[in-house]
Amino acid sequence: MITWKDKYSMGISRIDDEHKKFIDIINKAIVAKEHNNNPEELKEVLHEITIFAVSHFSTEETFMIEFNYAEYHSHKKEHILFSNTIIEFFNKIIDGDYQIADKIVECLKQWLINHILLTDKKYVGCFKENGLHLLHNHKLPIILTKVQLVIIPLKHHSHIKRN
Ligand code: FEO
Repeated sequence: MITWKDKYSMGISRIDDEHKKFIDIINKAIVAKEHNNNPEELKEVLHEITIFAVSHFSTEETFMIEFNYAEYHSHKKEHILFSNTIIEFFNKIIDGDYQIADKIVECLKQWLINHILLTDKKYVGCFKENGLHLLHNHKLPIILTKVQLVIIPLKHHSHIKRN
């Protein structure tokens, strides 16, 4: 199981709170894997990742636009690639392939290491220069990207094959 460590912190409570939720989801994926790829748990994990991605990517991208962050486009590209990977996992589940807990856990762990610890860390200076670390419960408009609008309906898919 993964526990929150100081090295994961951006020093911005709004972002840290959301990343803590992501770690909770990784741990749920680990439990699903330990339960022999339990289909219901895997579906729940993918559902929660989807909700997380829609909300969290919107949070970060909205601040990037608001603060005119120089690496907005390359960062957003990583968000889109991650969302596409989640769609691929959904498609496997829909096709009845439940032996993917390993891949889901690995994908989420890699996202923590390669995206949160590297790519997300790059915006910290910009966000702090704009005072974000001083604000709490900063309200954001909801901005849904095209990919996010695609993945939301998937959780309502009613024709999932069962083994
Ligand atoms: Fe915290 Fe760019 O995802």
